[in-house]
Amino acid sequence: MATLTNISQTSVDSLWHPLKQHKNIQKAPPPVIVKGEGATLTDEHGNEWLDAIAGIWCVNVGYGREELAKVAYDQMLNLGYLSPSFIAEPTAKLAAKLLELTKMNGHVYFTPSGSEANEAAFKMVWQYHQQSGEPRGYLRRKIISRYRAYHGNTYAAIGATGQAERKIGFGNQPAEIRHINPPYPYRRHMNLTPEEHGEQVAAELEQTIIYEGQETVAAFIMEPMISGGGVLIPPDNYIPRVREICDKYGVLLIFDEVVSGFARTGTMFGHQHWDVKPDIITCAKGIASGYQPLAATIVNQKIYDAFIGNPGDMSHYRHINTYGGHPVATAVALKNIEIIEREGLVTRSAEMGAYMQEQFDQLLEHPNVGEVRGKGMLFGIELVANKETRETIDPALIDKVIGSAKEERVIIGKNGNTVPGLCNVLVLSPPLTITKAEADRIVGAVENGLKKII
Ligand SMILES: Cc1ncc(COP(=O)(O)O)c(C=O)c1O
Repeated sequence: MATLTNISQTSVDSLWHPLKQHKNIQKAPPPVIVKGEGATLTDEHGNEWLDAIAGIWCVNVGYGREELAKVAYDQMLNLGYLSPSFIAEPTAKLAAKLLELTKMNGHVYFTPSGSEANEAAFKMVWQYHQQSGEPRGYLRRKIISRYRAYHGNTYAAIGATGQAERKIGFGNQPAEIRHINPPYPYRRHMNLTPEEHGEQVAAELEQTIIYEGQETVAAFIMEPMISGGGVLIPPDNYIPRVREICDKYGVLLIFDEVVSGFARTGTMFGHQHWDVKPDIITCAKGIASGYQPLAATIVNQKIYDAFIGNPGDMSHYRHINTYGGHPVATAVALKNIEIIEREGLVTRSAEMGAYMQEQFDQLLEHPNVGEVRGKGMLFGIELVANKETRETIDPALIDKVIGSAKEERVIIGKNGNTVPGLCNVLVLSPPLTITKAEADRIVGAVENGLKKII
């Protein structure tokens, strides 16, 4: 084993690394990164790594943005913290900006992370139904979510997460959650067209609402396209149909845009690929391109209004995070959104995404590439052992492709530790600012890795 540098050894001795087996960390700790610029990370030995996942799907504007550092510095000097009980200028302005971008008529509630944004959404939904005026609204407690999706790691958010491997060892999950299938066109019943498949999985939502008792269902939460669970893109008829079903049964619709927000998929928000409005949007990650921890729960006015009452009647939302709407985070987010708009990163995501998709499509000739899918700069490459049967590939071979890219110092990921048997998708979501040469290097690294598993 190579001798570790001081900081690497300190990390092995002191740091609890997420998602990794301790033994693997001891054998080969991840590189110590000292700098980020554009899509490039530099490690302590001066090696440069091309980050094709943008951190964890979040560094949308790329690393090393001086403007963001400057705005954080200025805000820290001026007002480095404020209790959310008061109003900080950037926080109010960011709320207004989010309403403008989402075209939501409503209000915005800030939290520090995507998990907490979803947790806040669930509590809002529960309290909303109790106070909505619906005679038995208090019965509406159940949240329907989908297998394959990740919604965070807090109690209700991990409950809503449809990834069994993420839950092993954590005991009982909240009783109010029900899971249904997401659209998965690649593995649909082959007698069905993609649209018929979209209709079929939407019908599962309706059936579940009916079986559970429509007056007991509070909300349906979904990512417009499942990201960490394997990049699953729905047929075009699915999301509009989901909206109709939710409306029919008085079920609130929550879009988790934690990954798909802020230009990631070629529109400012993922759901804007379809002409559909949710009741709640949760977002995080790209909101500040990962430079600050920040998330938002954006609700429509109908929900907000149900919390208007009289002093003492407990109708207000009794929920707060010390760091919710942190002024440094919101100032950075405002500047980050200004960069996204000024540099036309929505269009860039769509155009560079289309270019990369075209390149990735050529990998379909490889015997183990079952499907290449994506929207904007969000990609999934599903690897199979057999294209006819679609039997999944040996996980060791996926690791081999990722390891090969790592040898070329290109960072790509997979939908690891999600659902049993289907952790077979390479996932990529580079910063939206990458150059064509960087895009080609990423595609080349995947291609070279694939050559090694034939
Ligand atoms: C779709 C989605 N929702 C929620 C979360 C949770 O966000 P956070 O890690 O900021 O708590 C994530 C994190 O990856 C996510 O991908």
